[in-house]
Amino acid sequence: MLNKADEACEILKKHLKQGNIVRLISHNDADGLSAAGVVANTITQEGGQYHLTIIPRLKESFIQKLARDKYQLFFFCDMGSAYVEAISRIKGEVIIADHHQPSDFEVPEKITHVNPHLFGVDGSKEVSASGVAYLCMRGMEKQSLAGLALAGAFGDMQYYDGFIGPNKLILEEGLEAGSVEIHQDLKIASKAEEPIYKSLAYTFQPILPGITGDVEGSMAFLEKMGLSYGIKFADLGNEERDILKEELVRLNPEIFGDVYSNPHERPSLKNIEDLSRVLDACGKNKKYGLGMGICLGEKSDALEVALDLQRKYRENLVKGLDWIKREGSMVLENIQYLYTEDKLRKSVLGTISSIALSMETLDPEKPLLALARMDNMVKISGRTTREMISRGVDLGKSLDDASKSFGGTGGGHDIAAGAMIPYKEMDNFLSLVDEITSYQLEE
Ligand code: C5P
Ligand code: C5P
Ligand code: C5P
Repeated sequence: MLNKADEACEILKKHLKQGNIVRLISHNDADGLSAAGVVANTITQEGGQYHLTIIPRLKESFIQKLARDKYQLFFFCDMGSAYVEAISRIKGEVIIADHHQPSDFEVPEKITHVNPHLFGVDGSKEVSASGVAYLCMRGMEKQSLAGLALAGAFGDMQYYDGFIGPNKLILEEGLEAGSVEIHQDLKIASKAEEPIYKSLAYTFQPILPGITGDVEGSMAFLEKMGLSYGIKFADLGNEERDILKEELVRLNPEIFGDVYSNPHERPSLKNIEDLSRVLDACGKNKKYGLGMGICLGEKSDALEVALDLQRKYRENLVKGLDWIKREGSMVLENIQYLYTEDKLRKSVLGTISSIALSMETLDPEKPLLALARMDNMVKISGRTTREMISRGVDLGKSLDDASKSFGGTGGGHDIAAGAMIPYKEMDNFLSLVDEITSYQLEE
């Protein structure tokens, strides 16, 4: 994979030398934005230019439009691997830096396809698109972008008791270059930014029972310890921090551990996981320019605007979680599902599904499909747990198969997948996923 990434680097260098504008296309989530950030920062450092578009999903019609464009180099991040056939109709040279399952289509010479799955590396656990982009750019790196690359890995939930595979290599290079530091600390959200009761309530990873997603629970917890909840964690005294640490560790020992930071970043973005959550909020709210401004380190008011957006987004997460707590899910034999037509809930559906399973608000042993009506279609986000994967569940496969049976599209990872199907097929689709899941569990 590293050799393939070097090839991509040489191709980019060649085009920049020729003064060509790079046509860059990436995904709208934290990983896609970080990946685009890694490439865009590198091009800028080289004095080159790019034309960037961030999109939620690659569609054949968009590729057809690109095929008519006159750029010499097209660079796809976090997408493209499943669309090699359509992309091969593009006239210029193409780099694909993706980590999703690739299609079987034979890759023509003008496409440099960098994807971990083609090299026996698991793209859902060992490297995300920002990492693949980092590996492609590393031959021309002037300033280490490892911190940004790891933000994408955090965004795609690839941190699990540490980083493995290429993510680990990126971490090691970042540590050496000084763009990443690790220290032992409390792993709570937005410590430098938010009053402590919010930091605790917005800590979804790991879960703090009675506190995660519960602002009042969080305040009560702090009051019980005699800590003032209105100040930031960063402003607590040493003794107060010790008390807090002891109580939090009692609730969940995983709350204390390795914290990853980029010392060169602005205070509220130093923590790499925090950076990934800010990018996530920008992506989910379709503020792609804002997200890119953060990745490019722009010295405008982008950061303040993004943090404000994140505050609203987190309030929506909590409201969405309250909705799940209140209403529960509809339960079938092997799976469960949520359904909504509410605009705000739709925008956080995948995330609150993940969180509701990890908080055990919903039964973690039943894979969860969250359905959102979009006119005459239904958008589905599927989430399950590592435990269920080990028992045979593969949502990427079941959603792919079931959606195709009803004239829809779908796919993704074993643990997190999605689909789009006609609304009138919703009940049939749910029954089929239920049935496929039962087979997966029997095998
Ligand atoms: O965007 P796909 O394009 O790769 O998005 C992956 C999604 O799967 C992200 O929302 C990520 O958080 C989710 N995921 C998860 N748990 C994992 C791995 C990925 O919820 N273990
Ligand atoms: O939306 P997605 O499936 O990517 O969310 C995956 C996980 O990311 C959630 O389970 C949660 O742990 C974490 N997350 C978070 N804060 C956010 C968004 C997501 O901790 N603002
Ligand atoms: O939209 P959501 O975050 O739930 O998507 C989870 C995963 O499923 C992502 O990796 C996404 O790329 C994938 N997906 C897909 N095809 C779809 C919808 C989602 O491959 N139609």
